[in-house]
Amino acid sequence: MSSSAASEEGDARSSVMPPPATEAEQALRARIAELEGELSARVHELAEQRRFIERVVDSLPVGLYVVDRDYRIQAWNHKRETGLQGISRKRALGRTIFEVLHRQPAALLKREFDEVFASGRMQQFQMESRATGDARTYRLSKIPMRLDDQQPRLVTHVITIGEDITDWRAALDRTAQSEKLAALGQMATGVMHEVNNPLATIAACSETLGLQWADAIRSESTNAERGARGVPAGDPMELLRIIDLEVQRCKGIVQGLLDFARPKPLRHESIDLNAVVRQTLFVLQHHPRGKLVSVVTELESAGPLMVQGDADRLVQVLMALVLNAIDASSDGARIVVRSYALSQGTSAACAIDVVDEGHGIAHDLQARVFEPFFTTKAPGRGTGLGLSICYGLVMEHGGVLSADSLVGQGSTFRMVLPADGSPPMTAGGSVPRLSHVPLAAAT
Ligand SMILES: Nc1ncnc2c1ncn2[C@@H]1O[C@H](COP(=O)(O)OP(=O)(O)OP(=O)(O)O)[C@@H](O)[C@H]1O
Ligand SMILES: [Mg+2]
Repeated sequence: MSSSAASEEGDARSSVMPPPATEAEQALRARIAELEGELSARVHELAEQRRFIERVVDSLPVGLYVVDRDYRIQAWNHKRETGLQGISRKRALGRTIFEVLHRQPAALLKREFDEVFASGRMQQFQMESRATGDARTYRLSKIPMRLDDQQPRLVTHVITIGEDITDWRAALDRTAQSEKLAALGQMATGVMHEVNNPLATIAACSETLGLQWADAIRSESTNAERGARGVPAGDPMELLRIIDLEVQRCKGIVQGLLDFARPKPLRHESIDLNAVVRQTLFVLQHHPRGKLVSVVTELESAGPLMVQGDADRLVQVLMALVLNAIDASSDGARIVVRSYALSQGTSAACAIDVVDEGHGIAHDLQARVFEPFFTTKAPGRGTGLGLSICYGLVMEHGGVLSADSLVGQGSTFRMVLPADGSPPMTAGGSVPRLSHVPLAAAT
């Protein structure tokens, strides 16, 4: 290459070279580089935060997913991917819940979500499933989430959490059984007293029969002559009838208590709530605390109150409610047990209220009475388990147990169960708020 050609090339190169950067440009470039560094650090930080939250959600031992207002799945945790009913996150995200959980009735599922979107309140359900082979119990919680800062009250998403509570349920059943046995122990004195009376009558009748029999063998004397000689009078057939009646009474008492004590699996039968009230009051008659108050019943007279469930468990619930009412009342006070039919929008329900005029429950404690081990009773007088067990049992029946009270004026505990053929209710959802009406004001 000639020297002139080389210098031409050099001129051409120098003509495309950028002019040297000014100080301001250099500062700007340095700032941009700095911002790029900050941005990538922020992106990294956000990715880490996202990963952290995903890990938290994935580490939970419960199934969790989130749907938006179009019912599209926006989050689906690892637990929902595992097990026989697991569905991969890839298949779930972005689809509607109806497409993904296509085996569940879409209308019911939609109604459950709509209730949370509309009410803004958490809903809880229990369900039994045999999908994994053995019978398992799940608790489903649908929790409202609000993401829109402009409309802070709007529920933008619903978080669904599914917990396998089979073991917890079994433990609760065992505790319920021991509570029942403890109650039975307390009843023992009352029962002895109760059985003693008919036994004394039986003993007196059989002694009279024995004396009459011996006398009859000795002589052919008349009833009047026997009376004159100190042998008790009485028609033997009548005495035998009294013995039989009293034996039946003892049998009834013992049978009632055995039925109450025996552990049994939860049954699903059509039962009449009025019969539940009657059976509870029967058992209560033999309880020492049952004699301290007067329990008045006001039963639905329009007909039976049919629900699906287990009569023994419901007797246990009502018994616990009435015993609590007795504990809160002074001797001789009145307790009203009322049963009635309720209409819940399109579905029907049946309710039992236990109303007392006892010391009541302070407002700030009312939410806590259903907590396990919450008790205001002296040590040895209460375990604090009664109401938590009742709450679980009523929920298992698809119903709701609630309480309201006025300090110094008494309390109302209300158990509402879906009528036979109606769908289960949800906590906080289907039941209007309960207000205690003092008995004195109501009558
Ligand atoms: N009818 C009522 N009136 C006033 N307080 C009540 C009534 N029912 C329940 N409570 C309050 O709720 C608490 C919890 O009741 P719960 O039945 O769970 O336990 P407990 O009665 O204390 O003990 P347990 O039933 O296990 O013997 C009671 O200690 C009492 O303070
Ligand atoms: Mg109690």
